[in-house]
Amino acid sequence: MIVSFKKLVFLPLCLALVRGQSIEEDILYETFPENFHWGAATSAYQVEGAWDVDGKGVSIWDTYTHDVGHGHVFQDQNGDIASDSYHKYKEDVQLAKDMGLTNYRFSIAWTRILPQGIGEKNQAGIDYYNNLIDELLANGIKPTVTLYHWDLPQALEDLGGWLSPEIADWFEEYARVCYQEFGDRVKFWITLNEPQVSAINGYEQGINAPGILDPGISPYIAGHHQIRAHARAYRLYYDEFADQKGQVGITLNIHHAQHLTESPEDVEAVERWNDFFMGWFAHPILVNGNYPQVMIDRIALRSSEQGFLQSRLPQFTSEEMEMIANTADFIGINYYTTEIIFNQIYNASDVSYNADIGVGTTKDPTWYTTGSKWFRVEPTGIRNMMNTIRRKYGDYPIYITENGMSDHLGNLDDLTRIYYYKHYINQLLKAIRWDGVNVRGYYAWCFLDNFEWGAGHSQRFGLHYVDFNDTERPRTPKASSKYLTQLYHQNGFVQNDEDPCLNMEI
Ligand code: GAL
Repeated sequence: MIVSFKKLVFLPLCLALVRGQSIEEDILYETFPENFHWGAATSAYQVEGAWDVDGKGVSIWDTYTHDVGHGHVFQDQNGDIASDSYHKYKEDVQLAKDMGLTNYRFSIAWTRILPQGIGEKNQAGIDYYNNLIDELLANGIKPTVTLYHWDLPQALEDLGGWLSPEIADWFEEYARVCYQEFGDRVKFWITLNEPQVSAINGYEQGINAPGILDPGISPYIAGHHQIRAHARAYRLYYDEFADQKGQVGITLNIHHAQHLTESPEDVEAVERWNDFFMGWFAHPILVNGNYPQVMIDRIALRSSEQGFLQSRLPQFTSEEMEMIANTADFIGINYYTTEIIFNQIYNASDVSYNADIGVGTTKDPTWYTTGSKWFRVEPTGIRNMMNTIRRKYGDYPIYITENGMSDHLGNLDDLTRIYYYKHYINQLLKAIRWDGVNVRGYYAWCFLDNFEWGAGHSQRFGLHYVDFNDTERPRTPKASSKYLTQLYHQNGFVQNDEDPCLNMEI
């Protein structure tokens, strides 16, 4: 047998990866259910570029990244050009086809469609998405479309943005235009991407646009109006566009929580974490139109101790609760990692989301690191999380709308990323086959290297390498894209698979 130089170099690395991971479980060799979505995801601001082209309006991310000198973004980078998918969408679709994707998730830039957020439409922007959708369909790939992935029109921010109750009207108007223009071909809609991150990063910590630092107050208002806006867009679909026969859901983010000790306090801290993180949005939308009781009680109590005249958590009217309850056909989950959680008592005067939750978090130092400080590699969490979602919300169809890992280099032989995908997807398979959780699809994040928000280009999540130093933004498939191509094609894990580390031509 002739062993290639590449194998000689990479085999020891693969073995090292496997040996180091003490929590690794055996692979389950089985397939996924039929008609499973095998996708990859992107978002408009992160990949499109063309920030001021063809009549597009300014978004809060344009404003935020152009406000240089304040450390908003790594090296003051911006998404003006990003991966240039606005001009290179045909090439992207070809790469998606090469991977055998059944679905491609992208978001619409609100400012391309309605440059001022409401009012006059921009036909060139509408044409762009028509072209992208048509190109996908012509290549046998279904579009999965997110209406809002954090790039609010600046014109609406100037009117109060997510802190204004009127945003539910503005979002409904925007959703109507999208359903009208694209709904004949788009059958899978996600209203909002990760409202928890929009609220916390954008309004509590000020580390995402619009950069508001108002802990414990503004994030709850921004969250409140996101829930109202989501529900309005959902209801609109069934009131006026039901004949399009699509589905509408929302994408939430959650990290699986393991309790640090078996103490009742730590076990309860995990429940609180789930309720404040995911339940904040999932409970109103999937259960009863209102926040989890633990959020209502704790924020009311702490607010009164702090001298506020009313709870910092806004209240829904009874009409709103009725409007909000049961407004998702599916739950999208963006899943990345596990946290170790313990009960933590904060100072009563601390006005913040973390103090309201009352938990501390840590990570196991033995878990592999990634290119992002906020997460490490822990595969079993995704299976546990799927079970938690079913326990809390019943048998809703779940789609993993993002999952993936970052590095700094963007190397093409991205073996740790293969490791991540292999073990996370296998844990997802166990959730489906062994636990019977109703998971219907999986989208890798990200289809290509992109603009990673405050981290700029310093963190790469792509299945395809993008050279950001080249004005042409050339793309090159990484080994992970080849691995997923095979896994997607097989619809799962096949017993006689060779380990990808052994058979991959890199
Ligand atoms: C998600 C977000 C994506 C991407 C990813 C990796 O929270 O939806 O846009 O940035 O995280 O950090």
